[in-house]
Order: sequence, then structure tokens, then C-alpha cells
Amino acid sequence: MHLGSGAHIGVLVIPAVLALAQRDRWNGTQLLKGVVGGYEMAVALGESIHHSGLRNPHFRASGMIGAFGAAGAGIVADDSITSDKAMNALGFAVNFAAGMNEWAWSGGLEIYTHMGTASRGGITSIDLARAGLYSSDTVLEGKDGVFNAYGCGNESAGKFRAWLKEFDCGAGIMGARFKPVAGCNFIQTPLAVALRLSETLKGRVQQIESIRVVVTTAAKNYPGCNSYGPFDNINSTKMSIQYGVSAALILGRMDELAFRQYGNHELQALMRKCVIETDDSYDQAFSERRQPSRVEIRLQDGTKYQDSSEDVPWLDGPAVEERFYEEAAQSYSSETAVRIVKACHTLEDETTCAALLELLSSHGANRSLHRSTADLKETSRL
Ligand SMILES: *[C@@H]1O[C@H](CO)[C@@H](O)[C@H](O)[C@H]1NC(C)=O
Ligand SMILES: *[C@@H]1O[C@H](CO)[C@@H](O)[C@H](O)[C@H]1NC(C)=O
Ligand SMILES: *[C@@H]1O[C@H](CO)[C@@H](O)[C@H](O)[C@H]1NC(C)=O
Repeated sequence: MHLGSGAHIGVLVIPAVLALAQRDRWNGTQLLKGVVGGYEMAVALGESIHHSGLRNPHFRASGMIGAFGAAGAGIVADDSITSDKAMNALGFAVNFAAGMNEWAWSGGLEIYTHMGTASRGGITSIDLARAGLYSSDTVLEGKDGVFNAYGCGNESAGKFRAWLKEFDCGAGIMGARFKPVAGCNFIQTPLAVALRLSETLKGRVQQIESIRVVVTTAAKNYPGCNSYGPFDNINSTKMSIQYGVSAALILGRMDELAFRQYGNHELQALMRKCVIETDDSYDQAFSERRQPSRVEIRLQDGTKYQDSSEDVPWLDGPAVEERFYEEAAQSYSSETAVRIVKACHTLEDETTCAALLELLSSHGANRSLHRSTADLKETSRL
């Protein structure tokens, strides 16, 4: 998660880097330059769009900037791309940007295709520029360019110019954070607080009369976050603050199975007792890239409990690996998961990139990405 741009940059840039490294026979230096460069470019555009507070929220932030970041990776890694060609590639890349936010309400799988089309768009942009096609050099700041199209106009153009002037290499990638729970960024802090409260409340969840969840305005307003459902799939439960807080209180855990409990009547009833509110001081904290939250619970006998956290308890490197093993267990054998992690640690050149891609695509073919009854079956097993 990159907070300043509201986007998930690794998953946009790294697949493009792996593919380009394999196809164009990059060495390790190029690989590293690609990853860092792609992050920096995506952050430059993402922060320019995001910081104005004016951006059109119907578009997904990752979709808006993904192809630009992926093209940036290819440009930075490959010295043979002249600055003219780089400009043309970036111009095409913003034209390949895409991604609506409707998935957040209905749980559609376009949340994943946004990332893939962005990576592919970045690579195609470079190829078009290499083939000699040219794009508009005012595509960012022009009258009908990116910034005006996304509703953030000159504010963003100014921010982008400032980035060019004050370029601080590495600031982008070092701003990446790692979520503790496989859900939306905006549910992370309330869930962490609710998980702590579930310890305190053990055995008394049935006596809850009301739950007040206080979050930033950004969290409350983000598509899908202030949602009571009804839910029929895991992709929308991963967005809802009401769902996450209720599931954390009832189950005391927040893993894939917890996100699959949308058929659980106790959970549905608890969700209806939740109200989501905001706090001005939290909005101030959000402008400083912190995301506080407070959860207040009242039992039927009048007893009150409350807990809060100043920010998301972001994960560090070893915790990221641990979470990877937990999530990967759904798709890979534990032996393959260990090999994937090892392949990431020893990534070096086109050959090791190809080997990693091969391992990743050994993913069990039995797991369909289509809407199916599998989620419900798994729910009834619990
Ligand atoms: C990697 O490849 C680039 C581009 O061909 C080249 O400039 C650089 O010297 C290479 N680096 C190493 C360590 O081989
Ligand atoms: C905004 O940008 C347009 C186009 O570049 C320019 O003509 C206009 O003067 C700018 N407006 C402000 C308030 O900076
Ligand atoms: C998203 O929802 C669909 C439909 O329920 C499901 O098949 C898919 O596995 C979900 N994605 C994830 C990552 O859980």
C-alpha cells in the first residue's frame, strides 16, 4: 500500500518488470532499476493526482497510475530508450489507464484485472514508442489531459512539476507499507482495534447493544467501506468496515475464512448495530499519513468498552513473509510457497525471473476465478 498515492504499486510495477526482464533479457542492475524507477514514476503521478483531494473517486487510484508506473519501470531500466521515446511511452501509458471503483460495492473481479491491464499497458506503451509512434507531450497538464480529466487540474500539474524539480530517488518505494490483513487499506485500523476488543469481550459479544466506529472521512467515504451489504462474496466483505469489525469481534481472527462468513446470521445482526462516524482530528492525522480509528462498544447492561489506535499496525519484512505463507496455502503446496519466497530472495536476471514466473503459474488449476458456490461451501464447513 502506498498511502500518498492511494495505490498498490508493487502489483502494478513488479509483474511488468518480471515480464520485461524475461523478454528483453535484463540483468540484475536493470531489474533493480526497473522496480525502483517504476515505483518512483507511479508515486510521482499518484501523489500529484491524490494530494489535491479533488480527484474523481469513481476511478481507482491504482488504475489511474498503473500503466504509467509500469512504463516508467521499462524506461528507467533500459538505457537504449531515448528521452523522446520515453515521453511518447508515458503519453501512451496514461491513455491506457483504466479502472472504475464499482467492484468495491459489488465484489467484481475487475479489482484484479485493473492491475494486469495496467502492467500490460505499460509494456505496450514502451513497444509503441519504440516502434516510432508518438503521443501528445501535453497529455498530463493539457486542457483535456490527465489532470483535468480526473478533476484535479492545475493543482496536480503544479505538484508534478515540483516532483520533477525536487526529485528524491527512493522516496517513492520507501513509502510502501504492508497491510496486516488482506482487506482494504481503510479497514485496517478499525479491524486491529476490534481484534484487541474481541479479547476483552470474550463470551459477551451477544450482549452488544451498539458499536460506534470512528474513522477518517477518507475511510468512511471510500467506495464499499461504509457498507452493510448484503454481501455474497469475499471481495466486498474485504471492503466493509461494518463487516470487518463485526467479524473480528465474533471470530477473534481476520483471515480468508473470516471474510467468507457473509452467510453468518449472528455477524449480519451485529453489523446492523454498527455506526460509522468521523473525527476532524483523524482527518488531520490522515493528511500526515496516519490512519487512526476508535471503536466504542456498549453492552445491553450499559457497560462500555473502547479502544483505539493511532495508525495501522503495518507489517515488517518477516511478518510479510509469514502472511504470504498463510495466504499462499490456499493456492500452493507449502513446498512451492517456500520455493517462491526463495526465488524472490535470489532474483537476479532473466533466468531467475522466468523461474519465478513459472513457479507462480504452477498455481492449482482447480481454483476458478469465476463466481461459484465454493465460497458458500467453505462457509458451511466452519
Ligand atoms: C546490465 O545491462 C546494462 C544494459 O545493457 C548495462 O549497461 C550494464 O552494464 C549491465 N550491468 C551489469 C552488472 O552487467
Ligand atoms: C491552468 O492551466 C491552464 C492550461 O495550462 C492555464 O492556461 C491556466 O492559466 C492555469 N490556471 C491557473 C489558475 O493556474
Ligand atoms: C472474489 O469473489 C469471487 C466470487 O465470490 C471469488 O470466486 C473469488 O475467489 C474472490 N477473490 C478472492 C481473492 O477471494
